[in-house]
Amino acid sequence: MEEVMDLRKYVSEVEGWPKPGVSFKDITTVMDNGEAYKYATDQIVEYAREKEVDIVVGPEARGFIIGCPVAYSMGIGFAPVRKKGKLPREVIEYEYDLEYGSNVLTMHSDAIKPGQRVLITDDLLATGGTIVATIKLIEEMGGIVAGIAFLIELKYLNGIEKLEGYDTVSLITYDE
Ligand code: PRP
Ligand code: MG
Repeated sequence: MEEVMDLRKYVSEVEGWPKPGVSFKDITTVMDNGEAYKYATDQIVEYAREKEVDIVVGPEARGFIIGCPVAYSMGIGFAPVRKKGKLPREVIEYEYDLEYGSNVLTMHSDAIKPGQRVLITDDLLATGGTIVATIKLIEEMGGIVAGIAFLIELKYLNGIEKLEGYDTVSLITYDE
């Protein structure tokens, strides 16, 4: 059994980036540490096994960093969520509002088979917009969102309220 690790110690908090007043949570210092990256991955794998997932889905770009090693470790597939114009075959789209403007996320329309149990992964839950869009895409294809795993959850942004009814896990949380 692995020793318990305090993953928070490996996150770099960058004050005032990308703009004043923001404390950016930089995960690159989790990923470039082999032990921390493996530990975080193993924690999510354990969660995903409980949820009996068939496939992992993650939004570009940082959702790939979390989700791909989980899929590899479990010997299951990974399907990407990408910004509009990046996927070459037939796609389904979902548009959602940002603070300024909007964003369109897409998936290949055959990426998820009806009834497949899906694990969604991302590095960070903030307002929840990215993950709600990801859920919509998966469900449009008939997939079942069996679990959602984040490395970090910013609790003070209340994104979790948008994910009511879904099972989620966050390895690190920030209350303020
Ligand atoms: C960041 C982060 C999450 C999302 C969280 O991604 O990686 O995906 O924001 O925010 P939300 O909960 O308010 O939607 P970003 O769009 O910056 O792109 P990246 O992953 O490509 O860096
Ligand atoms: Mg992202």
